[in-house]
Amino acid sequence: MALLLTAIVAGGLGWLIWWAFRGYVVKSCLDHIPGPPRTSFLTGNFGDMMRRDCWKFVDHLLESYSTTFKIHGLLGDKTLYTIDPIAVQSVLVKDNLSYEETDEFIVGNGLVLGPGLIATLGDVHRKQRKILGPSFSNTNLRAIAPIIDQVVERLCSAIKAQVKTSPEPVDMLNWMSRGALEMLGKGGLGYSFDPLESPAHNPYGDAVKALLPTMFAFALHWLFVSWTPYLGTPQFRRWLLDMYPHRTAQKLRGISDLMWRNAVRIVDEKKAALEKGEGLDDDEGKDIMSVLLKANMNASAQDRLSDDQVIGQVNTFVLAGTDTTSNIMSRILDVLSIRQDMQDRLRSEVMKARAELGASELSFDTVMEMPLLDAVCKESFRLYPPVLAIDRVVQKDTVLPLANPINDVHGNPVYKIPLTKGTGVTFSIYGYHRSKDIWGEDALEWKPDRWLVPLPETARMFPGGTPFANLMNFALGHRSCIGYRYAELEMKITLFRLMESFKFSSAGVDIYWNASHVVFPSLTKDSPAGSMPLKVQFIKA
Ligand code: HEM
Repeated sequence: MALLLTAIVAGGLGWLIWWAFRGYVVKSCLDHIPGPPRTSFLTGNFGDMMRRDCWKFVDHLLESYSTTFKIHGLLGDKTLYTIDPIAVQSVLVKDNLSYEETDEFIVGNGLVLGPGLIATLGDVHRKQRKILGPSFSNTNLRAIAPIIDQVVERLCSAIKAQVKTSPEPVDMLNWMSRGALEMLGKGGLGYSFDPLESPAHNPYGDAVKALLPTMFAFALHWLFVSWTPYLGTPQFRRWLLDMYPHRTAQKLRGISDLMWRNAVRIVDEKKAALEKGEGLDDDEGKDIMSVLLKANMNASAQDRLSDDQVIGQVNTFVLAGTDTTSNIMSRILDVLSIRQDMQDRLRSEVMKARAELGASELSFDTVMEMPLLDAVCKESFRLYPPVLAIDRVVQKDTVLPLANPINDVHGNPVYKIPLTKGTGVTFSIYGYHRSKDIWGEDALEWKPDRWLVPLPETARMFPGGTPFANLMNFALGHRSCIGYRYAELEMKITLFRLMESFKFSSAGVDIYWNASHVVFPSLTKDSPAGSMPLKVQFIKA
């Protein structure tokens, strides 16, 4: 018996060691693809890629290698890294059944947020997408625009109050974060998170703000998260997590618990109101969650989302829709504070629109039809993508076509790459948006005017375009960003009102932009929290 037990333990250990180190010995479908040498035996290039200041390393890779190359992951793993438009079109659209989100992404999001869109696959994902789609339609966004406009009016009043009482620079990241959360709250969930009355912090807002950086800081542990569903019952897993002696894990647990409690409250209150017939015809019922709940109530039993799935969507919208929007809006203000010429031009366009509009609220059509406002947003999304890359894993052996052939390690041309199950593929939005071959010699310049004339042929390589003007910020295909028009609407209303009310200039401090799940600003690359002080001057009586 003892011998049998020893054999089982030894066999198990042997299998574990083989599993962990097989990447170093087993042949990979990427062996012939060139790429940088590993920087660490155990973590490959992972450490360099996952740093807040990974910019130099990533720029070096994009300059030194072709449009498609190999990078080393953990424990001998290899990933294909590409900016090739035909390759990504194949991964996300044409051959999308051969690829899927990584296990860590799906399982991790499920654990932290619940079973919403970014935590589900296959039929469950399709069902959720089908019932959620109409809530994000242009018709619904037209109805939501005035709600967002009212939030931005409150936001501007709060900034004005701060500017009038203190000559100090204003942390615009803080205001953009609070504004984005409240816009998502009121327009997305029909719920107010923050009265936006004073510069004070809001605990829920602070938790949401800390969520993505905390997940990013947890990076290495995250790679093991896909094993957790196999660790016994939910109660046992919860006990294990409570005992896990790691500060970041405990911080993440606290944030997740707080978000879940809030989401349950929001959904319960909304359901109770709808059951009483409240909010069916007035402004209250126009937010995305009300439209979803009404559609869900009327859906057939097989199409209907469970309570947990609806609660999961609340957390998903908060995660996917706040930092992304607030950080790109901050980036635009940062650029405009340096490029005063463009700030003046943008303000002229805004003032002209305001003269035609009078004191009326801003509408979807007004802000969506302003050429320079649109060009400033697109150019900022191009040069400064808030999400840097899209990751997928091959689910069944397939072949990846390339628009731009590369040379393999022996110098032979490669037009397509056979990929085996389990191989990782990363599409670099950052690299694609900065490629001179695609955008022209001035690709690294922030030039909104490029959007006021036809784009070069090379920037229109996606057959049928992308959801957002040949840019990849919102991905492509059946998992592309469901909220991209919502984000665009929020950004345009916010920039409109900020431009007509304030002038922004540099506070004389350098702003450091940190790589993360969503790029964020801080005073240095080691600052524990994000911030972006700007000089803000009130210009409208
Ligand atoms: C600047 C703003 C935003 C950016 C850059 C952005 C970017 C993205 C990207 C790149 C994806 C695809 C991820 C992948 O394929 O792995 C995505 C998915 C998603 N986004 Fe956004 N997003 C933004 C705003 C929003 C907003 C405002 C919402 C909701 C109100 C939202 C909700 C979602 C959801 C639910 C998904 C998952 C879609 C699915 O799996 O079917 N996003 N977003």
